[in-house]
Amino acid sequence: MRIAMFSTKPYDRRSFEAANDGHDIAYLEPRLAPETAPLAAGAQAICVFVNDVVSAPVLQALHAGGTRTVLLRCAGFNNVDLREAERLGIAVARVPAYSPHAVAEFTIGLLLSLVRGIHRAYQRTRDGNFALEGLLGFDLHGRTAGVIGTGKIGALVARALAAGFGCRVLAHDVRPDPELLALGVTYADPQRIAAESDIITLHCPLTPETHHIIRAETLALAKPGLILVNTSRGGLIDAEAAIEALKTGRLGGLAIDVYEQEADVFFEDLSNEILGDDLLARLLTFPNVLVTGHQAFFTRDALRAIAEVTLGNATLIEAARPLGASEVRAPAG
Ligand code: NAI
Repeated sequence: MRIAMFSTKPYDRRSFEAANDGHDIAYLEPRLAPETAPLAAGAQAICVFVNDVVSAPVLQALHAGGTRTVLLRCAGFNNVDLREAERLGIAVARVPAYSPHAVAEFTIGLLLSLVRGIHRAYQRTRDGNFALEGLLGFDLHGRTAGVIGTGKIGALVARALAAGFGCRVLAHDVRPDPELLALGVTYADPQRIAAESDIITLHCPLTPETHHIIRAETLALAKPGLILVNTSRGGLIDAEAAIEALKTGRLGGLAIDVYEQEADVFFEDLSNEILGDDLLARLLTFPNVLVTGHQAFFTRDALRAIAEVTLGNATLIEAARPLGASEVRAPAG
């Protein structure tokens, strides 16, 4: 299958080349957007990542160029207009689980760095500053952790917090996980989680229902000093409300690997440029904010699995065979 791959970075190319068993891949650097869609002309499939825009006009342009398949090399699919894809007869496939461990482990890493000031200690000691003032943290043991979304990633995080660190875990999901219940995790509504948690970590997908699930009203319920971690999707948090809560101390720390307006910034080296996003610039001024650039998935194991499953999906589609859990369909109704 001829595949036009958008937003390609050198590491994508390396992992896809290693896994490719006969597909004809054109590695393109630009992000998919209405103006770059014509680059896919003649390719039966496109391969995209989290910040490529697969909107209705883009799908129409792709369809006119002969594209009939969208291969997502990620788990989330909030960037695809699924109804339009269905209307045009364009198949959409994703990588349902390449390494939930990669994201869950990174989430715990962010949480520990933030709570114990490890990110600040790294900077300080390099500057010859070995003082501890300002680095006072707290034990995770015995604290209440709220986990919103207990699918593949959230369940691993909930398990690590409950069984590993000895936290009391409150969780919220539309489908509670019986194994977590057996571990002593309690399911609760988001309001109770906001009111009782010392830490909240987000692992639900971005949907119209979860957009800004953390906003001014949620933060107003929170215990002062709440630690918030988001490795899911930026749109789950209203960044302006988070900044206000950081200023008052209601939010005691924020670690984000995702940001609602990340598409214009993340995955690029902008160190020689002026940052145009005032909200992100403000977030980066807080000592208790830790920002990483959508890095949670980025392990060798995950890249290998992403390439293998994505190209496997292309092979299945070419052979008109069922995609199983990789298939993405528009919600009914
Ligand atoms: P998953 O599909 O296994 O789990 C998502 C869970 O959220 C499910 O249990 C689902 O029932 C639940 N959910 C759906 N709607 C909800 C709602 N309104 N309220 C509460 N829970 C709800 O997905 P997985 O693999 O655990 O991934 C979670 C998210 O992590 C993905 O949606 C993706 O956006 C993000 N992600 C981020 C990565 C990164 O590098 N930062 C990498 C991979 C995924």
